[in-house]
Parts: sequence; C-alpha cells; structure tokens
Amino acid sequence: MHCHLIPQVDDGSKCMEESLECLKTLKAVGYSKVIITPHFQHPRFPNDEDDITRRYNEVKSQAVAAGIDIDLTGIAGEYRIDNGFAQRLEHPRFLQIGGKYVLVEFSLHQQMPGCDQFIFELQTKGYDVILAHPERYPYLTVGSSRMEQLKNQGVLFQSNILSLGGFYGEEPRRRAYAMIESGLVELLGTDTHNTLYAKALSDVSCDRKVEKLLEKHTFLNNTL
Ligand SMILES: [Fe+2]
Repeated sequence: MHCHLIPQVDDGSKCMEESLECLKTLKAVGYSKVIITPHFQHPRFPNDEDDITRRYNEVKSQAVAAGIDIDLTGIAGEYRIDNGFAQRLEHPRFLQIGGKYVLVEFSLHQQMPGCDQFIFELQTKGYDVILAHPERYPYLTVGSSRMEQLKNQGVLFQSNILSLGGFYGEEPRRRAYAMIESGLVELLGTDTHNTLYAKALSDVSCDRKVEKLLEKHTFLNNTL
C-alpha cells in the first residue's frame, strides 16, 4: 500500500521497464495486490492528481501486457506535510488509499510547525490519516510525548518492511521493532522505489526474525 512505481514522477522508478521489473519481484516475493503512492511534495515533486491517475493507468495496462499477474488495486499519494499543504487542504483533491485514507509523511529532519493542525483539518474533512514510516523520523520515539499525541489524535502508523531489515540503518530498524512490538503500527508497506529496494525486500522476506515479529501482530492491510 505504499510504493513509488509510476515512472519519472518522483525519486522512484526511472522508467516503465524498472516499474515492471519491481512488480515482477513483488509478485515473486508473494504480494498479490499493490497500491502505488507517488510523492506529492512542494516544490520538489509538483505532481498533479489527474496526471498521476493517467500515468497509473498506463502502468496498469503495461503490466497486463507484460503478463505480470499482480493486481494493481489503486493509485494514491504520499503527501508531504510541507509549505504547500495549506493549499492542498483548501482545494482537496487527495488520491486516497481505499477511498478514505490519506497517506502523509513528515520531513525526515525536523518537525514542521503546525503539523498537528494540518492533520486535524484532514480528519475534520472526513479523511483517516496514515503516517508513512514513523520509524524514519529521529524525533519520533516510542514513549515520546510527540508520539503519544499523534496516537491520541487517531493517526494510523505504516511501517516500512525494509526498516526491519536495517535498510535505512540501525536506528530506524530499532525504532520499527519497538513500535511494532508496542502495538503502535497498524499497516505495513514496502515503499519500493526501484529494483534495489525490491531486491532488499526479497531478502528481508526470508528473515526469520522479521517473520516471527510480524506473525505476532495483526495489520489492516488485508482490509484495503
Ligand atoms: Fe514513500
């Protein structure tokens, strides 16, 4: 429910061949459904919802033509809460996951002031909010008041499976384990950007320790 496989619209897949290659690997790893979520970030990735939907349909038909037996079940976005977010809220066009969830991300380096207000406004407009890869933000640790506040606000957490294999380093790996073990994570995503990620994903899928951790918890992915 989180990957970057629309070619050339963000820092994900560079071309259609790469997107198809990643989808093949996802299928081989055992995935049957995929929701693609390109970045919407001001000013770095000035994507437009209609254009992204058009490109998604192109990926979908190319995947069928290539005989890749994986279900592309939706197009959504990974929306950065940034200086352009107020504008998005004013004229909401969010591409949602499962028709109701808006996937958001924060800056990896610092907390944006007013972030919680933006989340509150999204919720007021009827969207459920999913925070992408909470383990990747150094300022968000288990037991911190910041985390408590987000959970009290009803924000769902989506961890990256690759974090559990140490793909982003030791600290995110540790935080991901702690969050999942504490029952704070409702969803899992791959955040696949390219073939390197897809290869790492097949490695982590064979990791017994990761498997054991995930077996103990229930996630909402099957409901999407
Ligand atoms: Fe992402």
